[in-house]
Amino acid sequence: TNHLRHVESLTTLPSGAGKIFPLNAVILGEALASEEDDLIFSNKDFSNQAHVSSPQKYLEMYKRSIVDPAGFWSDIASQFYWKQRWDEHCVYSENLDVRNGDIKIQWFKGGVTNICYNALDMNIQAGLGDKTAFFWEGNDLGKGATLTFNQLLSKVCQFTLFAHAQLANYLKDIGVKKGDAVIIYLPMLMELPIAMLACARIGAVHSVVFAGFSSESLSQRIVDCKPKAVITCNAVRRGSKVLNLKDIVDSALVESTNNGVSIDVCLTYENQSAMTRETTKWQIDRDVWWQDIVSKYPTTCEVEWVDAEDPLFLLYTSGSTGKPKGVLHTTGGYMIYTATTFKYAFDYKPSDIYWCTADCGWITGHSYVTYGPLLNGSTVVLFEGAPNYPDSGRCWDIVDKYKVTLFYTAPTLFVNRYSRKSLRVLGSVGEPINPSAWRWFYNVVGDSRCPISDTWWQTETGGFMITPLPGAWPQKPGSATFPFFGVLPIIVDEKGNEIEGECSGYLCIKNSWPGAFRTLYGDHERYETTYFKPFPGYYFSGDGCSRDKDGYHWLTGRVDDVINVSGHRIGTAEVESALVSHPQCAEAAVVGVEHEVKGQGIYAFVTLVGGVHYSEELRKSLILSVRKQIGAFAAPDRIHWAPGLPKTRSGKIMRRILRKIASGQLNELGDTSTLAEPSVVDQLIALRDT
Ligand code: WTA
Repeated sequence: TNHLRHVESLTTLPSGAGKIFPLNAVILGEALASEEDDLIFSNKDFSNQAHVSSPQKYLEMYKRSIVDPAGFWSDIASQFYWKQRWDEHCVYSENLDVRNGDIKIQWFKGGVTNICYNALDMNIQAGLGDKTAFFWEGNDLGKGATLTFNQLLSKVCQFTLFAHAQLANYLKDIGVKKGDAVIIYLPMLMELPIAMLACARIGAVHSVVFAGFSSESLSQRIVDCKPKAVITCNAVRRGSKVLNLKDIVDSALVESTNNGVSIDVCLTYENQSAMTRETTKWQIDRDVWWQDIVSKYPTTCEVEWVDAEDPLFLLYTSGSTGKPKGVLHTTGGYMIYTATTFKYAFDYKPSDIYWCTADCGWITGHSYVTYGPLLNGSTVVLFEGAPNYPDSGRCWDIVDKYKVTLFYTAPTLFVNRYSRKSLRVLGSVGEPINPSAWRWFYNVVGDSRCPISDTWWQTETGGFMITPLPGAWPQKPGSATFPFFGVLPIIVDEKGNEIEGECSGYLCIKNSWPGAFRTLYGDHERYETTYFKPFPGYYFSGDGCSRDKDGYHWLTGRVDDVINVSGHRIGTAEVESALVSHPQCAEAAVVGVEHEVKGQGIYAFVTLVGGVHYSEELRKSLILSVRKQIGAFAAPDRIHWAPGLPKTRSGKIMRRILRKIASGQLNELGDTSTLAEPSVVDQLIALRDT
């Protein structure tokens, strides 16, 4: 009944200030958009062809998904291939309340399936064998390749057999089998999704590590999940640079051996455009060239049928403490959820060409480069390079070249140079998009023609949680709008009380959804503590959110110590621990500041050990220390030398004040009288511009 009330309130929400809109306006086909309410209506032709063509249709579907989740999701799941159907009496079971025992989420328990089989074999059986699955665009202009669904399946099968062959040939005792972890450290070559799908096909658990992470981060992840093999390539071209990935892996493997985890097989793809074999460092008993092995195997391979709740992958993500968390997703629910969210949030049609600029090293590349689109039989563009190489028009070049219709990216600035006539729907993720950036994206990139899907979600949620459905609702620039089917977002105050109507507070989710993560690998207690204990009864997202009078949701950013830099999620504690590992750094406090291009930039306050003087050289070496321990993408934009940090009398750093200093809001420092030494604030301000 509680749930029902929520739905009911939603249906009556859009009725502001005596006017009946937007709901009725859209239903009646009247344009009642007013400046003050900043509503952007999608054009009728778009709505008419959309999967969800009106707010009414959305509400009907949403309502059913909340009132009868089992029926709603079963109907969708029935369109997929299951070797054995799930237990009809228990489509899902959940406990999100720590007061009632262990947190537990299960969907389609007892169902037996395989996500790779659904993404490839099933689409081929449906006649898509000769359809292009991947358009691969290399870093350098003119370099590209394509794979049809048939070819992709062959490549995946050859590769899975490699994994089986290890059992027989290389790793007599420790062959890769169902349930084993495999680390994939690859750039955006087609081999990356191929390796992911191959793991999925044999029931192995992939853990992709973004190829921008340093050897120390990589080894930390290897030590945590103890993979049976590491898959990498020798090097990659990124913009005008060549990155030697194999060297990074080599040192990661030395380090993990020192920490008690040694790896017997390092399968290495020879990426000839970046580096030849001859110049690649090699350890004969451990390293294997992909090209020497994989192509020798047959191009068909049986699938390993797995339970819906068997793990599909681990993906490490940053939290508010230093240690990355291994977010674990299982098979059945994740499959249904990514496929369904992809279909509706992008209004996917078989003729679409889809490009997501994310790297498979992040969740977006898992759910919306690989699984979601392929499960729908979509053609996907994969891009190896950097969006600004050779110049900032590259993205639009790619859009025009492949006639991309669905374009999904993190909000960043581009130059208006190309036609982009092909575009149909634009998507954005990773950070709150401010209304002026929204308008730019809408007016300039989309020629005021394409709806924008500002998708709010997280590594933990597996798929979109709050997102516009193009053509359904009028949009408000900067709002992620309404929940996806089956999701009950709520806003709570500090005490964990649900607040209704127009409000702002902490964003929580009240129920489970099929794509939810099930645990943190090896640390179920941390899973409960981080996500379910702060507001008992609910999943806590870590984000702030407000809801306006029409029920639209506005994300306001993280409320914990996590920052989002160019769509990369970074824990401030990780950057701090990298800084203090520098022998001359005594203490560090890192905060996020608004950054025109990256969304958020990293601003680090550092105090030095006694007798050391701050210098340009030291600044560089502090930054280097972060690059080495985490990766270049986490390098601070600004180091602010601090003789002392503002602390309370009990020694807690007052980050609130640091955030204000970093963002130059010097008149809004608030009460500083509780500081142990209020004078440090003046010192810090004086040193701001040095
Ligand atoms: C942020 C990325 C505002 C948010 C898929 C979240 C967003 C974090 C949006 C998750 C959005 C993601 N508007 N903020 N549309 N989408 N975020 O795990 O702070 O890398 O908690 O997943 O990104 O980052 P993650």
